[in-house]
Order: sequence, then structure tokens, then C-alpha cells
Amino acid sequence: MKNVLVIGASRGIGLEFVRQYREYGDRVIATARDDAGMKRIEAMGAKALRVDVADPASVSGLGWQLDGEKFDVSLYVAGVYSTAGATQPPAQDEFDRVMRTNVLGAMQAIPQVAPLVEAAGGRFAFLSSQMAYMGGTDSSFGWTYRVSKTALNMVVKAAQQDYPRAVMVAISPGWVQTDMGGPGAPMTPEQSVTWMRRSLDGVTARHKGAFLNYDGRRFKGW
Ligand SMILES: NC(=O)c1ccc[n+]([C@@H]2O[C@H](COP(=O)([O-])OP(=O)(O)OC[C@H]3O[C@@H](n4cnc5c(N)ncnc54)[C@H](OP(=O)(O)O)[C@@H]3O)[C@@H](O)[C@H]2O)c1
Repeated sequence: MKNVLVIGASRGIGLEFVRQYREYGDRVIATARDDAGMKRIEAMGAKALRVDVADPASVSGLGWQLDGEKFDVSLYVAGVYSTAGATQPPAQDEFDRVMRTNVLGAMQAIPQVAPLVEAAGGRFAFLSSQMAYMGGTDSSFGWTYRVSKTALNMVVKAAQQDYPRAVMVAISPGWVQTDMGGPGAPMTPEQSVTWMRRSLDGVTARHKGAFLNYDGRRFKGW
């Protein structure tokens, strides 16, 4: 049985991680920022905590809520999307919304959670995106989002240096049928999360700081 933490699990990929880990008998603590999300987590037999990753005070409360815990697997899934491209400057509030959720929230969660992952010699994965892959960039579509996930990849790589007893990776879920991915995406949340769970099971010390695709392959030269 694994001890699992999922940050940002009210719906979509995060909620599917909760469902699958619970299905395999693991103990899961998961976060949402409203009552409806917390109820969906609890309905799967997981413990729900309230965290808004864009609110520094809320994230800093995570540490004491997790006092005494150790995590074999921890996942930072919370994220928001933005589609605008480089023909207009980003609106300030849109830039702040994306960067606070996708980057700052992860940077604030790491000092609270990474020691608990180290205590179990576990894995800490951060949901990135293939849109962060520089080698595959052929459009400015979603440039604020791209920048945020590329920054997240660096957050993971840099933070790994301070938490050597954990393995920290950024992982792209592929294009997935969620509120964010839309109905035209080729993968269901069940398929994507099945792949990612399998890939994370195979992660070892040689993956420290890596940027992986959902199937476990590395993005080369990212
Ligand atoms: N779907 C795709 O095709 C795809 C592709 C590449 C990467 N990703 C990444 O995968 C992750 C999950 O995406 P998804 O497709 O499941 O998206 P989603 O269906 O839109 O769900 C986003 C999740 O993030 C949470 N969240 C957003 N802002 C938050 C905040 N301030 N505090 C706490 N939680 C917050 C949402 O909670 P609320 O319900 O409270 O809003 C929700 O649980 C994201 O990081 C996304 O960037 C997705």
C-alpha cells in the first residue's frame, strides 16, 4: 500500500489519480479548493484537504495539515490554461492567474511537501505539458501557459538539488479529455493516468529532475 498525496484533485486528471490509487488500495490524501471538490474526493474514500494553490496563505497551511505524514507518491496536478498567443501582450491578471497557479503554487508547495516525500524515499511528480517542450514549439498559441509549464520544469529540476532522497519529475499527461483538454482530445483521463501511474512506478534515481512524457519517455533536449 502506498501513501499518496494529490494536490489539485477536484476534477479531471487529479480526481482520476485519486480514483485509481484508491482502486489499488492505496491511502490517499487529496486537495480541492471548494466543498464540491472535497466531497468528490471523499466519495472515493480519500481524505480531503482544502487548498487554493494560488493563495500563499492557503498553501503554507498545507505543512501543518500534513504533520507526521510520509508520501511514497506526491503529485502537483493543479493547473490553469490560457490560449492567447504572441500577437498581443498578456493581460496582467491573466498572466498572474496562470503563473501563480502553475508556478508559484508549486514553488510554495515544495518546501512543505518534499521533506515528507524524502522521508519515504518517494516520488514527487508535477503535471507539466508537451506545450512546454521547446524542441516541439511551432506556434505561440498558449504562450503564457507554455512559459508557465517551462518554468515549472525548471522549478522541478532546481528543487531536486535540495531534496536528494526524493525523485522529482515533471510529467506531461498527453492531450486528455478534461475540462481543460476538451472533448476532442485523444486520451481519456483513465488512459492518461494509467500510463502515468505505470511510468511513475518505473521512476528511479536516474530520472531525478527529468521531464517525462506520460508513457515514461524523456523529452530530449528540453
Ligand atoms: N487535459 C490536458 O490535455 C492537459 C494537457 C497537458 C497538461 N495538463 C495539465 O494537467 C493538470 C490537470 O489538468 P486537467 O486537464 O485535469 O484540468 P482541469 O480539468 O481543468 O482541472 C484543473 C484542476 O486544477 C485545479 N486548480 C486550478 N486552480 C487551482 C487553484 N488555484 N488551487 C487549487 N486547485 C486548482 C482545479 O480545481 P477547481 O475545480 O477548484 O478549479 C482542478 O482540480 C494541469 O496542471 C494541466 O495544466 C492537462
